[in-house]
Amino acid sequence: MISVISTPNIAFTKYWGNRNENLRLPANDSLSMTLDSPTVRISIEPAETFSVRSWNVDGSEKTLSEKNIARFHCHRELVNRYLATLQTEVSIIQPSPRLSKKSLRGAGWSISNYQLSIRSQIPSAIGLASSAAVFSGVAKAYGELLRREGLELTDEQISIIARLGSGSACRSIQGGFVAIDAGIGDTIDSAKAVQIADNDHWPLHDIVIAPSLEEKKVGSTEGHRFAHTSPCYAERLRQMSRRQRECINAIRTRDFEKLQRVSEKDALDLHKVAETSNPPLQYLNQETHRIIGEIETLRKEEHLAVLFTMDAGPTVHLVCTEESRDRIARYAHNQPHCTVFETKVGSGAHCQHASTSTLS
Ligand code: DP6
Repeated sequence: MISVISTPNIAFTKYWGNRNENLRLPANDSLSMTLDSPTVRISIEPAETFSVRSWNVDGSEKTLSEKNIARFHCHRELVNRYLATLQTEVSIIQPSPRLSKKSLRGAGWSISNYQLSIRSQIPSAIGLASSAAVFSGVAKAYGELLRREGLELTDEQISIIARLGSGSACRSIQGGFVAIDAGIGDTIDSAKAVQIADNDHWPLHDIVIAPSLEEKKVGSTEGHRFAHTSPCYAERLRQMSRRQRECINAIRTRDFEKLQRVSEKDALDLHKVAETSNPPLQYLNQETHRIIGEIETLRKEEHLAVLFTMDAGPTVHLVCTEESRDRIARYAHNQPHCTVFETKVGSGAHCQHASTSTLS
């Protein structure tokens, strides 16, 4: 059995809209920080047929919807399509080393019948990237499976496998600060994740405040579809490459003020697009706006390095430096009826070896 631990990521410049929906090829570049928690554990073992099972935090089995199950089946088909495009150099060892040669082996690899088991600590559909954590874990597990069969994939190739299940999942394969290079064209491998800096580069924290654990009605996968109907979307796309450059630069130089400016602008801009699309998508609520307002006042009064950002849900991510962390955590825990997650920059999806396994 192969077990993988994976985590969500929080985007500073966000992916919104696809240029190819089936292949989840994003319309724009994006950049996120991989978090160290909450975690998802994915296990994979041989089975009679391909199947997916999921467990709640309390150990009870979750009933997956038809739509969810179909997503895993569709993902596996896309992964096999991608694997068939790989021309891999395999060493053929001949009796004499002088005759040893490399040959190209293509179309020989595929994911066949396995049972995927998902144990997630992440509430789904509240804006905490639970599917990013799940599909980065599944991709890493497939990568390990293929490695054991002799096909060693790079992190970028594994990120493509993750992207085929959930666009933003490709950014959780590696740790630290990771960009999606959206690329151009319609080939299955034309968008991939690229690490900008590893998790030792900048010890940022993300204090997450979830005002509600109620699942959103329209998930991001569906939301991307409506992006182009917003009159603000074309302008957003025009701004994205400049924003991405600024964001990469802010991370490389550890310039928190610059990171705050670009990421808050980008988050508010994404929600302006969502709210003006057809149908309008209202992910933020009154609580979100109240928290944003209070954080703006708090950081001014107390000179705190903290920024806010929201994915597709009312959940507010307060990304802050080590120095501001305690104050922001105190603020978060004082919010009535909210669930708080204290996370920080993490190291990305990784295989769990049997001896280190603590979960059943
Ligand atoms: C708003 O298509 O990756 O979080 O439907 O959950 O798989 P799922 O989401 P995905 O879109 C993520 C959109 C976003 C912004 C971001 O993370 O870049």
